[in-house]
Amino acid sequence: MVAKFPVARADEYLALLRERLPEKTYAHTVSVAEMMLLVADRAGISAEQAVTAGLLHDLCKPMQPDELAAAAAEYGITEDLDSPNLLHGPVAAAECRAKLGIEDEAVVDAIRWHTTGRAGWSRVGQALYFSDYGEPLRTHAGAAEARAMLEREGFEAALLFVIENKLSHVRKRFTLHPSSEAFAEWAGREFAS
Ligand SMILES: [Fe+2]
Ligand SMILES: [Fe+2]
Repeated sequence: MVAKFPVARADEYLALLRERLPEKTYAHTVSVAEMMLLVADRAGISAEQAVTAGLLHDLCKPMQPDELAAAAAEYGITEDLDSPNLLHGPVAAAECRAKLGIEDEAVVDAIRWHTTGRAGWSRVGQALYFSDYGEPLRTHAGAAEARAMLEREGFEAALLFVIENKLSHVRKRFTLHPSSEAFAEWAGREFAS
């Protein structure tokens, strides 16, 4: 098989995802990795960081709440225990470090925070947040607009667009997580034109 991604361990990660993820989530993670490769230069991250974070960010997405709770206890995770939607990020990050031996802390941290973002987040995290929302298998109108903005106005403007769109969508249904609020405020200051 010809390697699809220019990263030594990509085939190993793809095989793991094949075992663990339903088809739709598998296709999404491949698409996020492709999107991250597309933005890697513009975001200032390496191909290795792009592919690793993109492929592995939803490794724990299909886990049931009780499995996530057990894994969180195993890894000593104490935040977001009441929210499986958020907890799949911290649990995947801990698993990447402990079981896959991923040592790039920017990659682990991007996966850790991908459900909310955080103030002062690294470029890998920012690229993951953008790509998770804007990858081409996402069918909402915001995804296509995010990709168009990337081409038209560059990475930082497109990221601000994604943050604003995602948070206004989340606000309609849930109380916003404090880390999401902090991420939006920080990015607004950091990337204001
Ligand atoms: Fe996720
Ligand atoms: Fe995702």
